[in-house]
Amino acid sequence: MMWAVIPAGGSGTRLWPASRRNRPKFLLPIPGPQSMLRATWERVRPLVAPHHCFVVTGAAHVAAVRGELPELAAEQIIAEPAPRGTGPAIGLAAFLIARHAPGALMGSFAADHYVADPEGFRRAVRAGLRAANEGYLVTIGIPARYPETGYGYIRLGEPLLVAEGLTVHRVQQFKEKPDRATAEQYVRSGEYCWNASMFLWRVDVFLDALRRLLPEVYAPLAAIAACWDAPEGQHCFQEHWPTIPEITIDHGIMERADQVAVVPAEFGWADLGDWHGLAQLLADDADDSVVLGCEHLGLDTRATLIYGGRRMVVTLGVENLVVVDTDDVLLVAHRSRAQEVREIVRRLEQLG
Ligand code: GDD
Ligand code: MG
Repeated sequence: MMWAVIPAGGSGTRLWPASRRNRPKFLLPIPGPQSMLRATWERVRPLVAPHHCFVVTGAAHVAAVRGELPELAAEQIIAEPAPRGTGPAIGLAAFLIARHAPGALMGSFAADHYVADPEGFRRAVRAGLRAANEGYLVTIGIPARYPETGYGYIRLGEPLLVAEGLTVHRVQQFKEKPDRATAEQYVRSGEYCWNASMFLWRVDVFLDALRRLLPEVYAPLAAIAACWDAPEGQHCFQEHWPTIPEITIDHGIMERADQVAVVPAEFGWADLGDWHGLAQLLADDADDSVVLGCEHLGLDTRATLIYGGRRMVVTLGVENLVVVDTDDVLLVAHRSRAQEVREIVRRLEQLG
């Protein structure tokens, strides 16, 4: 059995107005019925003892996370004093795991994905753990299908081992969020996978990489871990955390480390990043509409995504729309503009 961390931070601005500062993406029931966070935990649960999982989240979301995961003890939900990106969040969990089990296998699982085949996902994890046990920093890769610039790209190297019917490869190159032209070239070559944001390693191997590659993150985390159980533990956490620079695990560790391996696998993985992507994922046919969370009457309505709440939504003679109805905001947008929702959020923030 391994240990696990689920980093749950960020807000997912492209799913506005459903995702908000006080209701981040991982708490939304997309595609439902449970929240993405709960779905992530349930997917991982067969591989992890319940008291061997940490969730690292913002202080403002601790109560909601507890509500979603009542089987976790209070000390398994860590409230970071301020967001610092996935590097420090995952690093802190590694330090806390090392206090109990320094040579343990550990996995980190992002809380903003959809997985159609959870058993296929667990097969990939089991295969990856074999390479992790041999000292590799392992990531799970999804064969890249189109040039998405919001993902990390992994170039496969030579095969390392076969487990669970999957071949684990060394990683020749890890490139986080390339520009469009580079992503196009990667996809054309057929040699790249997307990084699924699911990582596996031995905790001692990971902490060693963190110490070498990100000493400015490692040192304050070591100080925080050293006083974690002491009476001044909270004070120490609040004091050292703000000194940690903001960095993602992808840029900070995976792009720079040498002992990196990847399990290429297909298990119906999708990043639930924006309304158009979500509609594409959930519609059986490109012409179908998708309705989430509300009653909907659609007359002559095509390829439209409706996400609602208490009210019924009625559409007549429309196509290719996104309609998101929340208590205080109603968004109506053309599906092709779904990426620009992020810009709307930026503008609204400027307006205050
Ligand atoms: N605790 C904590 N603190 N969690 C965080 C923070 C933070 O500051 N920032 C992000 N997270 C959580 C998110 O809630 C999510 O579960 C996970 O960490 C990944 O972060 P994202 O912000 O969603 O990353 P991304 O989507 O831009 O990129 C990552 O995922 C892609 C696949 O969806 C990268 O790993 C890419 O390489 C990858 O392709
Ligand atoms: Mg994401």
